[in-house]
Parts: sequence; C-alpha cells; structure tokens
Amino acid sequence: MLYELLSEYNKKGVTPMHMPGHKRNAAMLGSGLPYGIDITEIDGFDNLHDTRGILKELALQAAKLYGSKSAFPLVNGATGGILAAVRSACRPGDTVLMARNCHQSAYNAVLINRLKPVYLQPEIDAATGICGSIAPEHAARAIEKHRDATLVVVTSPTYEGVVSDIGSICDAAHRFSIPVLVDAAHGAHLGFSKSFPPDPVRSGADIAVVSLHKTLPALTQCALALFNSDLFDETQLRAALSIFQTSSPSYVLLSSIDACVRILQEEKESLFDAYVRNLAALDAAASGLKHLKILCHGSDTPDRHPAFFGFDPGKLVVRTRGTDLSGPALMSLLRSEHRIELEMACADYAVALTSICDEAESFRRLADALLDIDGKVRARPYDGGGSADSRLPFQALPPYEAAALEGVSVSPDAAEGMMSLEYVWAYPPGIPLVVPGEIIGTEMIAEMRRLAGAGIALKSTKGALPESIYCTKP
Ligand SMILES: Cc1ncc(COP(=O)(O)O)c(C=O)c1O
Repeated sequence: MLYELLSEYNKKGVTPMHMPGHKRNAAMLGSGLPYGIDITEIDGFDNLHDTRGILKELALQAAKLYGSKSAFPLVNGATGGILAAVRSACRPGDTVLMARNCHQSAYNAVLINRLKPVYLQPEIDAATGICGSIAPEHAARAIEKHRDATLVVVTSPTYEGVVSDIGSICDAAHRFSIPVLVDAAHGAHLGFSKSFPPDPVRSGADIAVVSLHKTLPALTQCALALFNSDLFDETQLRAALSIFQTSSPSYVLLSSIDACVRILQEEKESLFDAYVRNLAALDAAASGLKHLKILCHGSDTPDRHPAFFGFDPGKLVVRTRGTDLSGPALMSLLRSEHRIELEMACADYAVALTSICDEAESFRRLADALLDIDGKVRARPYDGGGSADSRLPFQALPPYEAAALEGVSVSPDAAEGMMSLEYVWAYPPGIPLVVPGEIIGTEMIAEMRRLAGAGIALKSTKGALPESIYCTKP
C-alpha cells in the first residue's frame, strides 16, 4: 500500500534535496496523522470561498507577512492560483505578454481563456545555456508595441533560481496600466532575508503566486495568491479562485498554510540566519570542486552570468557540462551511492532544492558527495549544443485555435515545417518546448533528440512521444 511504502521510505534516511520544503523534518515541525483534523466546512471553521472567520484571519496574516493588500490560501498548488490570476485579469481574445519560459499552468490558462500570447524571450546565459532573466528593456519594448495587452506574466525565480528585474518590468507595464502577474512558485521564501533577492510583491507585482510547499515548511499543494494591484479589483481574483479551487478544501492543508505563516512570523530571523550559514558552508565546500560547478556558488560567481538579474542561492544547480557525466547520471549516482535525492535533472545539470528545514548535516552530506563524485569524473570537452534557443519559434496560430484542429501523428523527424497541435515538454521543469500553433523547426527537433539522448523523458499532450507528434501542415 502507498501509505506503507511512504512510511518505509521515510525511515530509510535518504537526504531530501527536493520539494516539499518541510523536508519531512518532523524533529523541527512535529508529526502526526491528519485524520483527527481532517474536516470540511463545519460550524466555526469558516469557508474558504467566503471567508469571514478563522480563514479570513489566516489570509490577513499571510498578506501582512508578504506585504500584499490581500492573500488567498491555495490548496491545489500555485497551479490553481495561476489559472485564476490569468482568468481574473483577462477576457477571451485578449493579448497577454508572457515569458516563453512560463510553466504549463500559465500556458493552460492562456489556452482555456482563448488568449493570444506574445512571448517575451528570456536572455540565454552563455556559460550554461539555461534561460536567464527577462530583460526589462525587452519587456518595455514589447509593452510599448502591444499597449492593448491586458496582462504581463513572468516567472521569477525560475526552477533554476534565475530572478528577473520585476521592479523595472512592473514600471514599464504600469505606465500603460497593464498588471503584472509573477509566477513565484519557486520564490515563497523570498523577502525574509537580505541574503536572498527581493520578493515580487515588494518589487511591484500586481499578483504573485507562491508555492509554500516548494521552499517553505508546508505540505504539498499549499500555496498563496498574493494580490497587490491598483489596476483591477480583487473580487475578480476571488471569483476566479472559486472556479479553479476545489469546493472541499482540505483543512489539513489550510492548517499547514497557517502553521507556515506563523513559523515565519515568529522565527524567520533565526531560521533564515541558520539557512544562510548552511548555504555559506556549502559555498566554501563548492570552491573545492574541479569539474562539477554549482551555479552562482563557490568559484562560479554571479558576475559570470550577466544574463541573470538576480539569483536565488537556495537553488543548487549542479552543472556536469565538460565532464563525462550527464545531469540524470549525476542524480542517479547521488541516489545510489550517497542516499541523496535531488529535485530534477536536465541534460547537463541537476538541481538540489534547499530550505530553512534542511539540517546543516544535509548540506554537509551533499557537499561531501559532490566532492567525492567530482574526484572521480573525467573531463570531457563540451561538444556544443544544449543551449536554450534564443530565437522564438514562429507562432502560426494562437494555442487555443491550433489545439482545436484535426491533424496527423508523424515521427518527430518528419515533423519539420509542420504546425504542432499539441504541447511537448519535459517535467520537471514543465516549460513547453513546443506550443500548439508553433512551426516545428530543426532546432526543436534537435533539442528533443538531445534531451531524449540524455535520458530526459519528453511528454506531449497526446502522450505519443517519442514515437509521434500531433501536427498539421501550416
Ligand atoms: C515555475 C512554476 N510555476 C508553477 C508551478 C506549479 O506549482 P504547483 O506545483 O504549486 O502547482 C511549477 C511547478 O513546478 C513551476 O515550476
């Protein structure tokens, strides 16, 4: 049974360098079966969709903590908040300016609301090939050109920890009264310590959606939508949230959100001080790495990455480029030989997610394991490739129009020049490589081949990859 499997796994002592941010740290957070507190909206316990009592108080405390006008507890992750936020700001047919490296949830919001996306392409970091920040000048030019847009959507920080200049992007958008939604699913822990980049709300975002469960002590699916706009009414967001959130919200999750907010209110200074010390110790150890590199840690200083406006030091992106290891191979070695589980792997890097709930010992174990592996890998000249494409694919149709068309299933190699009728992505990170309505180019096909070759499983809407992709002649 799943419960037994999970309990057994918990006893194995594997170091969790992945979500959820509570890190199963029962010594710090307490433990216990949730049956005794799993209720529905009975008398005295308020109603998430019409808060008047204890849940209203929870929302007020969360808003105070993050400095927003209001806050909405979310029990189905940032996903529900992003769907609702886009829905609340846009009407069918609207143009939305969105970063091309947005998460699937933002793309799904664009699809179901029949929006026309105009993409903001992030800069590409020359040293690693990963997506950098959205340049504010680029965003400003796009905003100037598409003044009729009803929303700007940016992901900050990204899965890899790259932060954009949200303040400047908001200034540019607000000049034309366009609200900005920041998908800060990976940034719930920002704003509590000067050692981390500024948080999106205090930088000017109209709405920020944060996954508490990713980087803070909260159960999986716990998140918050933070509303801070003068440009539209929060009742629109409230109404949209009642579409996308369950009508039976879990009080176990709501109480976890409450506990998370309280822990931060009461102990953020000491918890973040300890976290910063742990990260500094890891930094010192990372300086001893000869082949592997940890992005923006150790000898890999942030000034080597001009495409990053800022970087979240809590994300440990371990790069394998220039060695005989791939990202998935590194992840598997850490699992099999060091009992450390990472969050995800891409072709030439793997990501460890850290939080205030990681013990100093976990950081030490990770540093020792990486130094051990580093001593065994061999240098292999980097053979090029593997950089995110800096050019946007040609968008022949908006996603909602393309997704409604009939097409044919062809092998990816035969799809060149065809218009995709489905999404293609790797999960994580859940950023579409191909969007319905885009023309499939040689670069996309080469990237699919490269990712598959590195052991990354690609998914598609119809589920037929790697055999076929659903498309049509443009
Ligand atoms: C950038 C980004 N946004 C949103 C989400 C969705 O978050 P959640 O899992 O809390 O629904 C994810 C999930 O990984 C993500 O990476």
